[in-house]
Amino acid sequence: MTKPLRPVRGPAPDAPLFRDAMARVASAVHVVTTIGPEGRVGLTATAVASVSDSPPTVLVCIARPSRTLAVIEASGVFCINTLPGDGADLAEIFASRRGIDGEARFTEGDWGTLTTGAPALREAVAAFDCRLTAVHDIASHRILIGEVVGLGGAGREPAETTSLIYRKRRFESV
Ligand SMILES: Cc1cc2nc3c(=O)[nH]c(=O)nc-3n(C[C@H](O)[C@H](O)[C@H](O)COP(=O)(O)O)c2cc1C
Repeated sequence: MTKPLRPVRGPAPDAPLFRDAMARVASAVHVVTTIGPEGRVGLTATAVASVSDSPPTVLVCIARPSRTLAVIEASGVFCINTLPGDGADLAEIFASRRGIDGEARFTEGDWGTLTTGAPALREAVAAFDCRLTAVHDIASHRILIGEVVGLGGAGREPAETTSLIYRKRRFESV
């Protein structure tokens, strides 16, 4: 752990304050998918970041109880599908807010595959098809590092491409 430049005073902010601060930050919304013995699975995630372009590498933070997490770790592959502006329904479905699970989550959207076999959304702003290369446990979450082995999405005219963001606990198209 690096020594802080200035001493940190006072107690650490509690979880609700942290969540309120984070809620003010606009985030792109993604559906992270994989394929397992019982078919396709996926979850909605905003905790996604680019790590490096050589080799192309990304990360996603997933809560340890997630059912999708276990399937990704078994398959060793996942695809990060960045949602277009009209993807709020997909985001709700893959966040378990519609009571739909497993394969049935893929009824909405035009899904195919790229290199790994993980589901890739044709109308995604971008789809990053990944091979799982490392896993780190931090607090309540597991950080998955993926090497990008295929790119997809943008199956629409560029002029029509909008992005879905999550801000102040609401979805917005930008
Ligand atoms: C806008 C939004 C962003 C989310 N981001 C994450 C995330 O980054 N990581 C995570 O583990 N869960 C995240 N979730 C919660 C998961 O989508 C949710 O727990 C889901 O039900 C997990 O599904 P599963 O158990 O089928 O994998 C988010 C939910 C919403 C609505």
